[in-house]
Amino acid sequence: MPSPKEPTTILAIETSCDETGVAVVQSRGECVHVLAADVASQIDTHRLTGGVVPEIAAREHVSIIQPLIKQVLTTSNTKGQNLDAIAVTIGPGLQPALSVGVTAAQALGFAWNKPIIPVHHIEGHIYSALLLANSKTANKYQMPSPNPFPALALIVSGGHTALIKISGHLQYKVLGATRDDAAGEAFDKIARLLGLPYPGGPAISLEASKGNPSAFQFSRPMLKSGDLDFSFSGLKTDVLYTLRDLDKKGVAYNKADVAASFQQAVVETLVTKTKTAAKVTNPASILLAGGVAANESLRRQMQLMAKQIHIPLQIAPQELCGDNAVMIGMVAGYALKAGRIKKWHQIDAHSRLNIGNL
Ligand code: KG4
Ligand code: ZN
Repeated sequence: MPSPKEPTTILAIETSCDETGVAVVQSRGECVHVLAADVASQIDTHRLTGGVVPEIAAREHVSIIQPLIKQVLTTSNTKGQNLDAIAVTIGPGLQPALSVGVTAAQALGFAWNKPIIPVHHIEGHIYSALLLANSKTANKYQMPSPNPFPALALIVSGGHTALIKISGHLQYKVLGATRDDAAGEAFDKIARLLGLPYPGGPAISLEASKGNPSAFQFSRPMLKSGDLDFSFSGLKTDVLYTLRDLDKKGVAYNKADVAASFQQAVVETLVTKTKTAAKVTNPASILLAGGVAANESLRRQMQLMAKQIHIPLQIAPQELCGDNAVMIGMVAGYALKAGRIKKWHQIDAHSRLNIGNL
């Protein structure tokens, strides 16, 4: 397939969990220009239930997605007919939530006769760190020079914890992943245990800033497992039993100390495993992205580790750590160039989807 004429203009849609993301991006060479983007967060709704209920998330996506698409197209001064493609997250994620974005993309692809670019949610997070914000021009991102490949990515979110090798654009190999809870999920569960609001990550992080990270020595799971997998359910149980024992003995504890010690256990585990993976794969760069990458302590300790082993580290900007459609559009520019396109009736939402399967 001949490469499309550049710049290509893409409408990107993300609805895999509890954020409705829409963006219009223009891709030219190794640069991506975000013409307009918005995220409608459902956090206030899910705070009432202490977590995401998939059907409620889907209903919220349905109520907002059309006005959001209309608004982003208007802001970017883009007509549907002038788009080169529509990109959408097809998985992994919550099936009812994914289906809303996929159905919207199908309807628009049908109406405007445009190709669809299916995107894997984790690819999106990877690209949010792979491309760097242009320091001179707002809303422009570009590939760094020298070439960051092969890159090693640590993706940490509410649903995923994974170490991925990226040998070139759109080429991924999962080196390790969580066997149970994801890092963000652990933050959310411990926050609930401590009576902190949803989502737990920012709440724990705030509480931790007032506490002592060495007050409790919680377990650092899987550090000696000999592979690059993660497991956070044991750490969660460790915190639960420690607090239960203290309660039984009538010993008071400082919530901030628990939050700080828990956060340190997670961060140390993530950093140590990434360092091991870097030693094994000898990457040209390390990437850090996903919701949990917003955590300041993780960002700081990853910086220190990367400096120590002399590998450049690229961390997703704060505004692209949580779910958004800009990152989906970033992937889509490269996918369109590579001819990774489908017709509207050839795509479907897949709650479980391997990153290589597109
Ligand atoms: O990437 P994301 O927005 O959604 C998924 O793909 O899952 O990640 C959401 C997760 C939540 O579990 C949230 O608690 C966590 O990211 N998170 C944080 C922080 N901000 C968000 N975890 C730790 N520290 C933070 N500052
Ligand atoms: Zn995500």
